[in-house]
Amino acid sequence: VSKVRIGIVGSRFQADCIAVSVKAMPEEMEVVAVASPTKGNAEAFARRHGIAGFYADYREMLRDPAIEMISITAPNRLHARIAIEAAAAGKHVVCEKPLCVTLEEADAMIDACAKAGVLLLYAEELFFAPKYVKAKQMADEGAFGRVHLVKQGEKHSGPHSDWFWDIEQSGGGALMDLGCHGIAFCWWFLGKQKIKSVYSQLSTQVNAHRTKADDEAITIIEFENGAMGMVESSWNRPGGMDDTIEVFGDKGQTYADMLMGNALPTYSEVGFGYAVEKASSTKGWTYPVFEEHWNYGFPQEMRHFARCVRGKETPISDGETGRVVMEAVYAAYASAGLGRKIMLPFRPKGIAKPIDLWKKPELAQAAL
Ligand SMILES: NC(=O)c1ccc[n+]([C@@H]2O[C@H](COP(=O)([O-])OP(=O)(O)OC[C@H]3O[C@@H](n4cnc5c(N)ncnc54)[C@H](O)[C@@H]3O)[C@@H](O)[C@H]2O)c1
Repeated sequence: VSKVRIGIVGSRFQADCIAVSVKAMPEEMEVVAVASPTKGNAEAFARRHGIAGFYADYREMLRDPAIEMISITAPNRLHARIAIEAAAAGKHVVCEKPLCVTLEEADAMIDACAKAGVLLLYAEELFFAPKYVKAKQMADEGAFGRVHLVKQGEKHSGPHSDWFWDIEQSGGGALMDLGCHGIAFCWWFLGKQKIKSVYSQLSTQVNAHRTKADDEAITIIEFENGAMGMVESSWNRPGGMDDTIEVFGDKGQTYADMLMGNALPTYSEVGFGYAVEKASSTKGWTYPVFEEHWNYGFPQEMRHFARCVRGKETPISDGETGRVVMEAVYAAYASAGLGRKIMLPFRPKGIAKPIDLWKKPELAQAAL
């Protein structure tokens, strides 16, 4: 069977990650084109990654009959529009997190892909991160007895592109950007149970001068069987990216540190090229990672998606997953706005962006 032919929308941070990850799994798939609006960027990206096709307008790329699957690595506010147009063009869709900005968009994306008979795949790489997969395998074997608490934390010094800080373009802050991983992780780890309630404490601790968004978020999720998830999301941690989990049951526990825990404790007085995502320095004591993409699960995720397109595997992360996460994100912002936990289902209509539920608690109140 031939390789799945992929077109990437976007040419910067996550686009690079996807291109490298696809190349790591060459037997299943290949990137054949890239689209990005800034003059010269798509071409430079194509050169860098050895990709044949490049476009300034993704719509033009969607007309290429050779492309079977689109990977959306554009800013959040564009996910829904691009996904819906890709589906109409008959392309399978891989969408980066968060799925979109509003619940209505999530519904429209899921409907459009179902109608077109294409897959909507939600790129949550933590479902594929080898250390975290091992933790889940042990939990599923019963190693920890009944798991009653799952924690995930993702923290760094703040996003690399301006649009993340602009709530009109991102839809929310650290909770939306990083908390979406933790919400998805806890939900997946505990067997994709229904979420019963969400409580979130949000604040802007460090970056009020540059954003209206939350830069610090603590979110507590209650699941149907009574188990708890706790998600810590921060844009205020200097020293490089941090991603960790903790799992507790009545018969045991496990801890996994994806980055520092896979790194080489290193001391250098002169510094070196690269330690880890968002580390500002390589001098002194640092924690340089190796196989960074692999440890996150990006190549494995893209391989799974390509195999889903060929009918060899069934998606473990799809549009529905993205919508579950979006509903919890809505509930988390509403919770912070109202200072109380929010019971699910929670599907307020006509909310322009999740963070509005925190900034304008009357919107959250009206939705209860
Ligand atoms: N899974 C992860 O761990 C992870 C990591 C980083 C980013 N992401 C997600 O990926 C998405 C992109 O983030 P990023 O960090 O790559 O951002 P970025 O700012 O580095 O890149 C965004 C890209 O989108 C392009 N773009 C903007 N407008 C466009 C348009 N109209 N049509 C086509 N392309 C357009 C830009 O030119 C740029 O190439 C976001 O949704 C983000 O949340 C996921």
